[in-house]
Amino acid sequence: MEMGGAVTIFLALCLSCLLILIAWKRMNKAGKLPPGPTPIPFLGNLLQVRTEATFQSFMKLREKYGPVFTVYVGPRPVVVLCGHEAVKEALVDQADEFSGRGELASIERNFQGHGVALANGERWRILRRFSLTILRDFGMGKRSIEERIQEEASYLLEEFRKTKGAPIDPTFLLSRAVSNVISSIVFGSRFDYEDKQFLNLLRLINESFIEMSTPWAQLYDMYSGIMQYLPGRHNRVYYLIEELKDFIASRVKINEASFDPQNPRDFIDCFLIKMHQDKNNPRTEFNLRNLVLTTLNLFFAGTETVSSTLRYGFLLLMKHPAVEARIHEEINQVIGPHRLPRVDDRVKMPYTDAVIHEIQRLVDIVPMGVPHNVIRDTQFRGYLLPKVGRISLLGSVLKDPKYFRYPDAFYPQHFLDEQGRFKKNEAFVPFSSGRFLLSDFPQACTLFVLFILSSSLLMSLSLFPISYSVSLLSLLLSPLLLPFPPLSPLIAPPPPSPYVALSLCFFLSSSPCTV
Ligand code: HEM
Repeated sequence: MEMGGAVTIFLALCLSCLLILIAWKRMNKAGKLPPGPTPIPFLGNLLQVRTEATFQSFMKLREKYGPVFTVYVGPRPVVVLCGHEAVKEALVDQADEFSGRGELASIERNFQGHGVALANGERWRILRRFSLTILRDFGMGKRSIEERIQEEASYLLEEFRKTKGAPIDPTFLLSRAVSNVISSIVFGSRFDYEDKQFLNLLRLINESFIEMSTPWAQLYDMYSGIMQYLPGRHNRVYYLIEELKDFIASRVKINEASFDPQNPRDFIDCFLIKMHQDKNNPRTEFNLRNLVLTTLNLFFAGTETVSSTLRYGFLLLMKHPAVEARIHEEINQVIGPHRLPRVDDRVKMPYTDAVIHEIQRLVDIVPMGVPHNVIRDTQFRGYLLPKVGRISLLGSVLKDPKYFRYPDAFYPQHFLDEQGRFKKNEAFVPFSSGRFLLSDFPQACTLFVLFILSSSLLMSLSLFPISYSVSLLSLLLSPLLLPFPPLSPLIAPPPPSPYVALSLCFFLSSSPCTV
């Protein structure tokens, strides 16, 4: 009896090993993938990659397997590229092969391959060219992007003044200002800061990012085939994004009702004109679905990324008062107390510029990049990456020790030469690279918003953690990282406690910035 039991267990073990081997071979047969930990069927490498700390898990695997390795996210192989050189070789030197977009199952239900940020192939090229041109034209048009940001800086400052030094959590104040810059282009007008609908939109955006960062979303990305039929938290992001879509659709209706093709007021009008011109083309990409989803992409992408960077930046300045003091000094010298900052002040303020770059580098808002695919079987560093539509290419270069002396520290000198002049760094690629490099407008818009809003605020206030009894060093700086292949990890959901209370609260200084 005992002998029989042992034999049964032994046979079961042999059978499992055989099944694992067959599954593993099947997963590899399409190409010669880079090395990586051996996966187990169904779970892949879940034992090596912690869903709540994906980025750190990758960095550990990098130590063992080098800058290019394969991990199995559930049943799906993901090729991970780490560091500037590997990512550049893929996205720049082999731009054509690597020009496919990877799928984000957790939000694919909402987008189904539509909208500029989630489209692929020809649809992506058409929507991208159109969207970025319209954004640029509006940004340069009657009212320049500079004027729009300055206007927002005044409103924002006013809001901060109203607090009369009381501690605040600036999360939604900052996102209101940032979002209004992009709103004025896509919707033709800004929102009042107390507008309930606007506040609800910002909440929806913020919560969507948080949901996309949960292990639930990662599990959904791994096992969407099954999970799409199950109830649970993983469905939340779907409903949040649907609500955002409904809002955009209602704005499109409002635009349609008062539409004058001779006088486009915003991005939506420009898209409507194009839809009208193409109305007899059954294959056009200029349809209502792409209009709603592209507008949503712009509104979404332009709001959370920049406002989280700003928020994180203030957190860093609170932790590094000496850096803040030097910015105050530069503001006093170049701008003075009587006018708002202008875009062209930036070149005269190399220290502030370096700090802003360093903030962007350290916040690393999309640390694992957005997943890409190879569009055909591709030779890469001696491996054969198969075009199976399931390989995501991720990589973060902003912390590459070859290019940044202190990759994990806040060190504005990364962007300054010995004479204190601003110094570029080729590994500073927060806006991706190659064909995916964000065009001039989003880049300029981000830099201008960060520069004008932060220097406008610092002209009139100083930042303090809410309690002096707590050592500055104890302020936590790590944003919660996003999960799996998906999108960005942003500065995390404000939650667990002392962190928010300590770090995200400011006092207005009673005297302006004469530090
Ligand atoms: C801190 C600021 C920002 C960062 C770090 C950032 C980063 C990124 C990254 C890494 C991607 C993915 C590129 C890829 O596929 O490899 C992306 C896509 C995109 N972002 Fe941003 N972004 C920022 C601000 C903005 C702003 C202000 C806008 C719009 C006004 C914007 C619009 C877009 C759009 C439309 C896409 C999709 C573009 C495409 O598929 O070609 N982003 N962004």
